[in-house]
Amino acid sequence: MIKLTVNGKSLELDADPNMPLLYALRDIAGMTGTKFGCGVGQCGACTVHINGSPTRSCLTPVSAVQGTKITTIEGLADGDTLHPLQQAWLDNSVPQCGYCQSGQLMSAAALLAGNPSPSDADIDTAMQGNICRCGTYPRIKKAIKQAGVQIQEVKHG
Ligand code: FES
Ligand code: FES
Repeated sequence: MIKLTVNGKSLELDADPNMPLLYALRDIAGMTGTKFGCGVGQCGACTVHINGSPTRSCLTPVSAVQGTKITTIEGLADGDTLHPLQQAWLDNSVPQCGYCQSGQLMSAAALLAGNPSPSDADIDTAMQGNICRCGTYPRIKKAIKQAGVQIQEVKHG
């Protein structure tokens, strides 16, 4: 049995230790918000947080993340309160087909957690591993900036 902590909950999964975390989340735990894109670390669709760092779950064996804090798109909101990025995504109608968007949101959330006031270059660097076939990049950038402003307003009252 593999023991994982996902979105604050303990899970025991009957998974091979070498199984990619992505498959364990989707196929065993039934958490399908994290997407399979390329399976080889090139698209970012499978991004989750491991102890707060954006990580490609398609390349991460489940055995390597026992004892860590895993956060998926299902755990990004705070209960019924959307993460500021999720609200900004809605406000700016960011998704097109939507397939890449949970990965985009997880990378953006990790960026803003460390830097709520990112420059265009900061955003480009943090988001460069997340590919969007629909070309939603301008709206992603706008929404990240909007969410960053909101996070700072909440912080400074
Ligand atoms: S599915 Fe993991 S990077 Fe593409
Ligand atoms: S919204 Fe379609 S791949 Fe990004």
